[in-house]
Amino acid sequence: MLDMTQRELSAEALMALEDKYGAHNYHPLPVVLTRGKGVYLWDVAGKRYYDFLSAYSAVNQGHCHPRIVEALKRQAERLTLTSRAFYNDKLGPYEQFITSYFGYDKVLPMNTGVEAVETALKLCRKWAYQVKGVPTNEAKIIFAAGNFHGRTLGVISASVDPDATREYGPYMPGYIVVPYNDLQALEEALREPGVAGFIVEPIQGEAGVVVPDDDYLPGAYELCQKHQVLFIADEVQTGIARTGKLLACDHYGIRPDILILGKALSGGVLPVSAVLADDPIMLTIRPGEHGSTFGGNPLACAVAMEALKVVQDEQLADNAARLGERFRSRMQALVATSELLTLVRGKGLLNAVVINDAPNSDTAWNLCLKLAENGLLAKPTHGNIIRFAPPLVMTEAQLDECCDIIEQIVRDF
Ligand SMILES: Cc1ncc(COP(=O)(O)O)c(C=O)c1O
Repeated sequence: MLDMTQRELSAEALMALEDKYGAHNYHPLPVVLTRGKGVYLWDVAGKRYYDFLSAYSAVNQGHCHPRIVEALKRQAERLTLTSRAFYNDKLGPYEQFITSYFGYDKVLPMNTGVEAVETALKLCRKWAYQVKGVPTNEAKIIFAAGNFHGRTLGVISASVDPDATREYGPYMPGYIVVPYNDLQALEEALREPGVAGFIVEPIQGEAGVVVPDDDYLPGAYELCQKHQVLFIADEVQTGIARTGKLLACDHYGIRPDILILGKALSGGVLPVSAVLADDPIMLTIRPGEHGSTFGGNPLACAVAMEALKVVQDEQLADNAARLGERFRSRMQALVATSELLTLVRGKGLLNAVVINDAPNSDTAWNLCLKLAENGLLAKPTHGNIIRFAPPLVMTEAQLDECCDIIEQIVRDF
């Protein structure tokens, strides 16, 4: 058995290894994790934490969900990857399952979230040329300011965050960026010639869980229909029960023309993403025109199918809705009596608190350090915003305990 000092040294040593041998493209909280189960994580010293990030909403089903891990093991021992050069016996059943689960004709399987976003953008351009009749190379796609769709060159070209774009130019042409939650700006942009699509996060996650006005998404959808423009929903973070419905778009009764999913599609076990659309859109891409070595691999198919079944069987959307209400009402009471916090916002179990300080301050970071000390892991999205997004398998009693911790830390801060 290691004594406490050796264990602490070991965490230090592990952080030093990452610092010395890994690229410095992240700035993690100083916690070294080694194990996860349900809503809990453990560090190398054996300290237990509530996970309030869920790997940016990838672990909605909870860490190491036994059914998902079992599906992974079973398939891993049988067949993991064939490439799409051949058929495999998992892909077809998975495609049938996921298209009926979300109600679309077809799916295009990819791996990471950003690959699915890139796929949707390519699909949108193909559709523009083949169906809408936009002249070659003149298609435009509208984005909302404050967006986060991932890190590729094609995607950061639409970002308004200097950290994401600085010194990575030249950028992708054919993009228009309009303010989020502004239907008038969207309508003006839609009048430009050659517009093919509007891509939007129903709730902007990385921007700090920004929830639009109730009429924004239905209004945007209607405007897109009026202008024969595809409404593309990036539900990589908001999808799969996180916001208290299967999709965040379900809150507004809209069905995107192209739906993008990732993260919790595998319960955080593997990178699995998907683009869903109906035939007139999806069939514009033909063999050889797009793909991925790992996309649609049998291991991913087995895992994703089980991960989606767990969401349904455990009624995780309902749990997220119920616990989300409870969380926000406790945090609202805290905001009302605290000078440190200005507001809480969110839907389901995707929430954030805004701190009464500048966006470039270190208050959110320091608060997260205190929360970690007290057994709760959360991460700032800006200097003054902390996102709270636990696994959706949390119980009411666990949530109450977490609210107690947050309230205590905020009061003592
Ligand atoms: C809305 C949204 N889209 C896309 C992505 C990119 O996903 P990935 O990091 O798996 O590429 C993210 C990641 O946070 C996201 O929140």
